[in-house]
Amino acid sequence: MEDIISLCKRRGFIFQGSAVYDGLAGTWDWGPLGVELKRRVMDLWWNFWVDKRPEVYGVDAAIIMNPKVWQASGHVATFADPLVEDTVNHRRYRADHLLKDKGIEAEGLTNEEITKLIREHDIKSPDGNPLSDVRSFNMMFKTTVGPVDTAEAVAYLRPETAQGIFTNYRNVVDTLYPNLPFGLAQQGKAFRNEISPRDFIFRSREFEQMEIEYFVRPEEWDKEFTMLLGLIHEFLEQVIGLPADKIHEYEVPENDRAHYSKRTIDIEFDYPIGREELMGLAYRTDFDLQNIQRVAKKSMEYRPKDGSAPFVPHVIEPSFGVERLIMAILSAFYQTDEVGGSKRNVLRLPHQLAPVMATVSPLLKNKPELVKKAQEVYAMLNDAMPGRVNWDDSGNIGKRYRKADEIGVPHCVVIDFDSLENDDVTVRDRDTTEQQRVKISELAEKLK
Ligand code: GAP
Repeated sequence: MEDIISLCKRRGFIFQGSAVYDGLAGTWDWGPLGVELKRRVMDLWWNFWVDKRPEVYGVDAAIIMNPKVWQASGHVATFADPLVEDTVNHRRYRADHLLKDKGIEAEGLTNEEITKLIREHDIKSPDGNPLSDVRSFNMMFKTTVGPVDTAEAVAYLRPETAQGIFTNYRNVVDTLYPNLPFGLAQQGKAFRNEISPRDFIFRSREFEQMEIEYFVRPEEWDKEFTMLLGLIHEFLEQVIGLPADKIHEYEVPENDRAHYSKRTIDIEFDYPIGREELMGLAYRTDFDLQNIQRVAKKSMEYRPKDGSAPFVPHVIEPSFGVERLIMAILSAFYQTDEVGGSKRNVLRLPHQLAPVMATVSPLLKNKPELVKKAQEVYAMLNDAMPGRVNWDDSGNIGKRYRKADEIGVPHCVVIDFDSLENDDVTVRDRDTTEQQRVKISELAEKLK
């Protein structure tokens, strides 16, 4: 993990949020390379789940919603984590995390049961002090809407993008009238006031979700659940390119499932911090639409086109977290190997993820004729692949290769004296480090 965090900081993928002011825990800023990587991941997701699926449509809802949304959804009442307080210095911790650090599992237990475990095992705070009893801590961030700071003005930053989809279900049915099953997809920020954000971007207070609510006939939920589970594997293993042997399904037992779920399979990944949840697939039944129907007093029924009886659809939800996917990518592909007897760090990103596809360099930067030729090649490639090519004339060629390897650039293009004679360049492959000569006229096509 430390190698990955250091790579992200040194090379400009991900920085601590507000680092210049000593940071703000649980927030992260994306640097130039990180933003490109994240954009590729999110675009690949959209392409696979929305563009290529005729029955899935996109929405983009407001982050701040009417607070009734969170009352109806159950989040005001139950979206909470178990909190304990150090009775001496009043620092607060997640009780289940303190237990997990000692190898004791507390998922799905009540606050009373967790308190009992803490007492039985004589668990102390990280500073060695006694702990309070466990109580629930609601994770939604509060804000106020409008100029008056009253209880009525309280609103929440959304803790999941899903509710912005459910609240638009009626709008989409009334405007598009899609056949069942159909899906609504959304990407966007979610916010959770995590008691103890940790493990780099894995548990953040502000993060990005990519969610689909897939509306189905109640009697077909099982079949559609299996179909979506297959698509999740296809997306992670074939589209993103994560190694299948690091991906595991975990059938979440009833007492650990979210309040809305009748069945959940978590997809777990072998991270450097251990096997942890990457994303989840949940059968949310008609829980959310029924709640909206009850609280908003508007019908959420779907009228089949064949004239049969209307009903409230059931929902299956594949829910991805962008940060956890990117952490899986970085940990799967960041490796150390040996080239010519010396160690090198290499980020073996699959090409579809690489922020930069190629760097272009003159072999020597003090030879104007090489620089001129290299600039022509750079301009030509940048036209062919806008934004995917970097110019690099820093240091010597060895240093440039090391830097390119570490940020995952698949190809380094070098212009040397032979290039002036033969109109060709050296293309070095990141993974094999092999070099080949390629005609400049064929370069763009080959790299693409
Ligand atoms: N709408 C369902 C939902 O939000 P969840 O299991 O609470 O379910 C879904 O969250 C996904 O969002 C997780 O599998 C994870 O990828 C991501 N996620 C949740 N909390 C996170 C956090 N604090 N930091 C980063 N990602 C998080």
